[in-house]
Amino acid sequence: MNRIFSGMQPTRQLHLGNYLGALRNWVALQDGFECIFCVVDLHALTLPQDPAALRRNIREVTAAYIAAGIDPERCIIFAQSSVAAHSELSWILSCHTPLGWLNRMTQFKDKVGKKALENAMLGLYAYPVLMAADILLYKATHVPVGEDQKQHLELSRDIAGAFNRHYDRAFFPLPEPQILGDATRVMSLRDGSKKMSKSDESDYSRINMTDDADLIAVKIRKARTDPEPLPDTLEALVKRAEADNLITIYAALAGISRAETLAQVAGQQFSQFKKDLADLAVAKLSPINAEMNRLMADPAEIDLILRRGAERAGTMAAGHLDEIKDVIGLLRL
Ligand code: AMP
Ligand code: TRP
Repeated sequence: MNRIFSGMQPTRQLHLGNYLGALRNWVALQDGFECIFCVVDLHALTLPQDPAALRRNIREVTAAYIAAGIDPERCIIFAQSSVAAHSELSWILSCHTPLGWLNRMTQFKDKVGKKALENAMLGLYAYPVLMAADILLYKATHVPVGEDQKQHLELSRDIAGAFNRHYDRAFFPLPEPQILGDATRVMSLRDGSKKMSKSDESDYSRINMTDDADLIAVKIRKARTDPEPLPDTLEALVKRAEADNLITIYAALAGISRAETLAQVAGQQFSQFKKDLADLAVAKLSPINAEMNRLMADPAEIDLILRRGAERAGTMAAGHLDEIKDVIGLLRL
């Protein structure tokens, strides 16, 4: 039995990296797998959030899932905080996770940055354990994510393995990462060495799924590039991070390979290529944007979808949590 679990944090707006690195792949997977897609709102709390903005973002991420093509009938779409078993299993797993494993997590170090460790929050440190709980609570076998989540997924596998060994049974499947497509790491439009991210202070570094056609075109026009025309081989892109990124984005949006893209655009100046890229991005993103706006106009409908999803997820989660309690020796009263 194959089961997919994945999630996105409702922190600010989703961007093209979230779409090409994850969401678009989820849409393709829903035909072949039983799928559970979560809005991981408890993870969002690991950084400071404004309550009104958080509420809006939870609905907006839900709208983005549906607008991108995830079918709430075939898949389970729900908010993490509405199924309490995530937090319960997270505690149980945290009692099976050595500090040494958490100390290796690069995202924690990146997010703490230059601040004193004393001021970092326990939740941010425990973030990957909650992520493991998300996945293992449903005994998910496959987890489609972008490249940046690889280390967290390896930790989820390690925690599952440690649990299975401790209780001497193959209880949790070891979840397989699915890092799919060419655009597993979309880079900033302002700096080809940084990933496109919700937390970048410059809005021009990313294309948001809520940006309108004009803004998408302006951001692509202003994207950093170099003075050379576009090359005809992939090797020639290696030292040209910004050009490489724009080619990757074009290929992913057009649904063709990077080599095929280069065959079409070799020798062009960026001015021409950027126009074509902007047209393509607008053509692909505008319908999703319009559908998101339509859904966001009716929050009650979104809440209903989340409530139904929570019931379905909650039933499966409760069954597995009972099994876990049995395995570890807690009473099921
Ligand atoms: P987050 O916004 O951190 O919750 O990420 C949600 C999903 O989008 C995860 O699967 C990430 O790996 C993926 N993702 C985030 N940023 C990027 C990026 N710049 N390129 C590709 N995938 C990304
Ligand atoms: N940590 C993931 C991210 O930032 C979000 C996430 C939380 C997730 N729980 C998950 C992804 C479970 C996949 C499976 O992108």
